[in-house]
Amino acid sequence: MKRKELESLLQQVDGFEKPKLLLEQYPTRPHIAACMLYTIHNTYDDIENKVVGDLGCGCGMLSIGTAMLGAGLCVGFDIDEEALEIFSRNVAEFELTNIDMIQCNVCSLSDTMSKSFDTIIMNPPFGTKHNKGMDMSFLKIALQMARVAVYSLHKTSTRENDQPLNPSFTILMDHIQKKADEWKIKMDVIAELRYDLPASYKFHKKKTVDIEVDLIRFSL
Ligand SMILES: C[S@@+](CC[C@H](N)C(=O)[O-])C[C@H]1O[C@@H](n2cnc3c(N)ncnc32)[C@H](O)[C@@H]1O
Repeated sequence: MKRKELESLLQQVDGFEKPKLLLEQYPTRPHIAACMLYTIHNTYDDIENKVVGDLGCGCGMLSIGTAMLGAGLCVGFDIDEEALEIFSRNVAEFELTNIDMIQCNVCSLSDTMSKSFDTIIMNPPFGTKHNKGMDMSFLKIALQMARVAVYSLHKTSTRENDQPLNPSFTILMDHIQKKADEWKIKMDVIAELRYDLPASYKFHKKKTVDIEVDLIRFSL
């Protein structure tokens, strides 16, 4: 499947009906989701026939794309029942059979899931709504769950050193890098993306807000 084709299919995925601010329910836009998943699939071969987990799956944008790219199974995890209802409807609409979902608080997932997935993908809550450090809590759990790799979107401004990504994908020293070093995990920023957030909340004055995000690959 071509990336453009994936993107146009993902445009048909229904998003949050009443997004919950405290859960940071921003959907991944189809363009970003397609770029992200296509890279994971084509460059790293971490999707096809693999068992993939999607932490904070929301209405399933990343899980559905993963299933379309031939995952053996993709399991989405989210705390919010309403988001998972929309996710279920999306799955039925696309007639996908390689998807499952679990309602839970990702931060309380126990060790029973340890090393149960080849790949974990996620667009986690960035931890900007009275939940500072939430992205790092998601990351810690993801690293326990995955056997091969974790792919995660993180706000570029999290970096102390705001240099653009250089062609050799130089690893940037930042907060996440320090944590990865502490956990003895190799990480690479594999893409820089612009996340055009639609104005989904009343306090958003502009139609869209651009946020720079890094797609990071953590290899185990
Ligand atoms: C930025 S949204 C991403 C949604 C979806 N993955 C996507 O790409 O469109 C973050 C998601 O994390 C979920 N979430 C927030 N806190 C959570 C928690 N503690 N446990 C599980 N899910 C959580 C929210 O409900 C929301 O769906």
